Amino acid sequence: MRKKIVAGNWKMNKTLQEGVALAQTVEQMASALSGVAQVVVAPPFLHLTEVKKVLKTVSIAAQNCAAESSGAYTGEVSAAMLKSAGIEYVILGHSERRAYYGETDAILAKKVDLALANRLTPIFCCGEVLSEREQNLHLGVVKTQLADALFHLSAEQFSRIVIAYEPVWAIGTGVTATSDQAQEMHHYIRGVLAEKYGAAVANEISILYGGSCKPSNAGELFANPDVDGGLIGGASLEAGDFIGIVKAF
Ligand code: PGA
Repeated sequence: MRKKIVAGNWKMNKTLQEGVALAQTVEQMASALSGVAQVVVAPPFLHLTEVKKVLKTVSIAAQNCAAESSGAYTGEVSAAMLKSAGIEYVILGHSERRAYYGETDAILAKKVDLALANRLTPIFCCGEVLSEREQNLHLGVVKTQLADALFHLSAEQFSRIVIAYEPVWAIGTGVTATSDQAQEMHHYIRGVLAEKYGAAVANEISILYGGSCKPSNAGELFANPDVDGGLIGGASLEAGDFIGIVKAF
């Protein structure tokens, strides 16, 4: 079902104690806004089980999972482990994972399969770098990312995916995509999905925007018909800012 979602990606920030305290405040503030949007927090792996204990209305996501189901993969965390800890969502294909850890769409396809097989909801990130936008290649780049990582899925499987469009040039830079740029891409993505899976499936998919989203620009971004919420980095580290973005709905 097409949901409004605001998800906070904490990245590699906050000690365990700081993370639990942040989650507590987010839960308190979010519970007063029930029904506005599904609020999700994505703490580091180490924090997940402790953070989960303080959440009721807020959902929880991991920032990644392994591309293999189990075995000799030192340092990895599997989709089944996340599921066993009560985790609901998993962010996959974040541009930082692609850029710093060599995650390709082929690797992401395996992660998506394992997440879905374990009944986790993938928040699949896509987006172009600045030079691709400057050369007007952004639409094609995003289409290829979607096709290569996701289009092996059945329509039933695809209906359990959340997409996050995150132009890489907007992540952590303070430069946000304009409302028109976001709507253009989100509308394009929905069209690509409709072509592949049909309009009924495409209309049910939540497509989030990510990249320097703040309380001051979220309202304009979320007012677009194809923008169903946000994936928030920096502004999710402060409960007031993060909930300010939820209030933008
Ligand atoms: P940002 O990060 O909000 O700090 O730009 C967004 C993201 O990486 O998901």
